[in-house]
Amino acid sequence: MTLRKLSLVWIVLAAACSSNDSPDLESQVAELVSQMTLEEKVAQMAGTTPLQGAYGSELWNVPGVERLGVPPFKMSDGPRGVGVGDGRTAFPVAMARAASWDPDLERRVGEAMGRELRAIGGNVLLAPAINNLRHPSWGRSQETYGEDVHLLSRMGVAAVQGIQRYVLANPKHYAVNSIENTRFEVNVTVDERTLREIYLAHFRAAVDEGGAASIMSAYNSVNGQFCGENVTLLRRILKEEWGFDGFVLSDFVFGTHDDSAVNGLDIEMPLANKFKGLLDQVRSGAVPEEVVDEAVRRMVRKKLQYGLDQPSPVDESVVESDEHLSVAREAAAEGAVLLKNTGGALPLDPSEVARIAVVGLLADEANIGDTGSSSVRPSFVVTPLQGIREALGDSVAIDHIDKNVLDPQDLATIEAADAVIIVTGLTAEDESEGLLGPGDRVDLGLGPQRTQLILDAAGASERAVVVLEGGGAITMGDWLPEIEALLMVWYPGQMGGHAIADLLFGDVNPSGKLPLTIPTDLDQLPPFDNTSLEVTYDYFHGYRYLDRNGDTPELEFGFGLSYTTFSIDNLRMDRAEAGPGDTVTFTVDVTNTGVVAGAEVVQLYVTYPDSAVERAERELKGFTKVELEPGETRAVDISVPVNSLAYYDVSQSAWALEDLEHAVQVGVSSRDLPLSTTLRVTGSPAL
Ligand code: BGC
Repeated sequence: MTLRKLSLVWIVLAAACSSNDSPDLESQVAELVSQMTLEEKVAQMAGTTPLQGAYGSELWNVPGVERLGVPPFKMSDGPRGVGVGDGRTAFPVAMARAASWDPDLERRVGEAMGRELRAIGGNVLLAPAINNLRHPSWGRSQETYGEDVHLLSRMGVAAVQGIQRYVLANPKHYAVNSIENTRFEVNVTVDERTLREIYLAHFRAAVDEGGAASIMSAYNSVNGQFCGENVTLLRRILKEEWGFDGFVLSDFVFGTHDDSAVNGLDIEMPLANKFKGLLDQVRSGAVPEEVVDEAVRRMVRKKLQYGLDQPSPVDESVVESDEHLSVAREAAAEGAVLLKNTGGALPLDPSEVARIAVVGLLADEANIGDTGSSSVRPSFVVTPLQGIREALGDSVAIDHIDKNVLDPQDLATIEAADAVIIVTGLTAEDESEGLLGPGDRVDLGLGPQRTQLILDAAGASERAVVVLEGGGAITMGDWLPEIEALLMVWYPGQMGGHAIADLLFGDVNPSGKLPLTIPTDLDQLPPFDNTSLEVTYDYFHGYRYLDRNGDTPELEFGFGLSYTTFSIDNLRMDRAEAGPGDTVTFTVDVTNTGVVAGAEVVQLYVTYPDSAVERAERELKGFTKVELEPGETRAVDISVPVNSLAYYDVSQSAWALEDLEHAVQVGVSSRDLPLSTTLRVTGSPAL
């Protein structure tokens, strides 16, 4: 039977039964694989597209078996949109989308990316990147969803689910990949508990809850073995313990090693290099044929499940369509975080200002992210200046000062304006994927020139608004006190300029929250060593690190302002006691106490006062975003699965729930938690 016939059978069956436990699917997979020659099987374990020239212009091909109707994989990056070809929708970077704290929106973004890839003939999107941001110096900070495991899990699962409505997702880089400059060689030593709780939990969520069809292994080594041949990560944890039934592909060029195939890597990308000798190794008995059979079964299983041999249900008209552009605009607006707003400096009411100055080299610059593998080439980018101009039309005079170094004439222009909007921040020259740009950041500040720009412009205006771009935490203590308002917009994608205007003029009310901590300086963070080839990751980073050390950040994880105000009252729960497998629903009443509509993110943190093991002072365990009209009150639920309160007990190699009174805090940031209660958990030594 050919795959085409089989997949039709499967589509009918799929309605009735779940994929994992379908004997029919498995027998179809086995039958197809049994018809393949060894050569055909081994050929499916490596890509055939050279890196040079292919980067960004051609889908990466991993062959199928044409005579059996088994289609190839056709892959493209990546986390901010489809990287192959021109004229694809450039969404805000993942860090911006994380700041929306809106998994439903992320699902729609993922769906739009998947739809575009399917429309151009692709079937695997090399996204999402779900590495935990241990330190904001990481050059690829922009590609991930921040520093917290729970937020990473929720956004990662949503992205996978959205993408997989059309193509296969490929959560990456498994695992503990968060340094750029030494990424090909560095060995990260990490203890088992930290590994499980801080660096793997969100990958597990992407597999278990998201149903990820594939995973990309990382370049770096973990506990002495490269991730691309790490038998503990690939075989023992991912495939055996988690029951992952999809396939693993290597990170590109340098991600495959001598023991990769035997230890659980299924595809070498983008070309056979280490796997060149695989056929001979199998023939000679050095590598068991079952290794190859298993890898091919994993791929064929996913090809069948997702009907990859079927024609695309969408055509190219969906690419950069109005619908996708409007999702990109919505994501840019929802991900922007209002970090300061003294005296209601924002929003600017166009009917009350006659003249504004728009200042800085980034004001009219397409600044949508780094030049690494996640690059997307849209057909246009709306810059902040263009967005502002379009929003204001002729009603307000705009002085555009296209420089970072201001002279007395510029200062006079700013003084004459009702407000100055300073657009500044980082670019692809400051942070990026390694080799494809500058890599990691060594300093978290803006540097002297950009800082001086802000100080000079702010000194000439009583209404100084900074629109800040960048992929992660930027230290700001040297200029933040001097400005009236700060809007963090990250790399906001091709529709960013419109979103920025929507926010500045109050058509959209900011509702983003920081997905990471903004420290006062590097001393508040764990060390970041991107020169040594041996680093150790311990249990604490981000807000958990600052909490433990008693440090006060510049701006805390979960923080973000609005043009309205909210009150949060009356915390209650549907049970006071719970045990393994239960889910507890907490409820609060949220009221919009201001005069404009807005959205608030209610956040729930758990603390473990009498824990027998070392715990973080508090950990995010749930959140819900709610939109409210002025004066409106709504009961908002946050559900917490009790098993998510477990820690990993190394002595038993199992997750353990402590028999403990857990303290629960609810509020609007990791440091603004006015409501609290306790939850009595009936423990379980091994889940
Ligand atoms: C990156 C991956 C990317 C791959 C293909 C690698 O250098 O680490 O994230 O998917 O290239 O572009």
